[in-house]
Amino acid sequence: MPETAYERVGGDAALRQLVGRFYELMDELPEAYTARKIHPRDLGPATEKFVMFLSGWLGGPQLYVEKFGHPMLRRRHLPYAIGPQERDEWLMCMRLALDETIVDAELRGQLYAAMLPIAEHMMNRGENSCGGDSCSCHHTEAKEA
Ligand code: HEM
Repeated sequence: MPETAYERVGGDAALRQLVGRFYELMDELPEAYTARKIHPRDLGPATEKFVMFLSGWLGGPQLYVEKFGHPMLRRRHLPYAIGPQERDEWLMCMRLALDETIVDAELRGQLYAAMLPIAEHMMNRGENSCGGDSCSCHHTEAKEA
């Protein structure tokens, strides 16, 4: 059996470190303020949900789906105004958190590359925002995520 990305990353403990650091950076960096301010004051629930999502997404236990059903990420992000600025800040925090917590550079690059189109697809404000089902962008996997 080939190793899953979940195993390569280091399982639940590593995902907790990654997501914990990700939201810590978003909370602390002035450059991430635009993304931070659309999140609730308490980042605890978002941290928990993101760990659960990544677990299943990387081939580990489907914690998010078991508890909340299909992720429907784009739909779940619609209440939050996400434009290019929010996307860029989110991605900056993710890149820094990956650099700090994932030792394997190749894996780190793969994770970032896989998240990039999803982040792109989460935009729901601004000129380049994707119009959901009627959109002609090619983020097919992201649409399904
Ligand atoms: C483009 C930049 C993004 C921004 C600004 C953003 C922002 C947010 C916000 C404000 C929430 C709600 C937090 C809460 O309810 O406490 C959220 C939830 C979530 N985000 Fe993002 N997000 C982005 C991209 C992504 C990406 C790329 C992924 C996956 C790889 C992702 C996965 C999730 C998950 C799983 C949740 C929890 C959904 C739920 O059950 O409510 N997000 N995000």
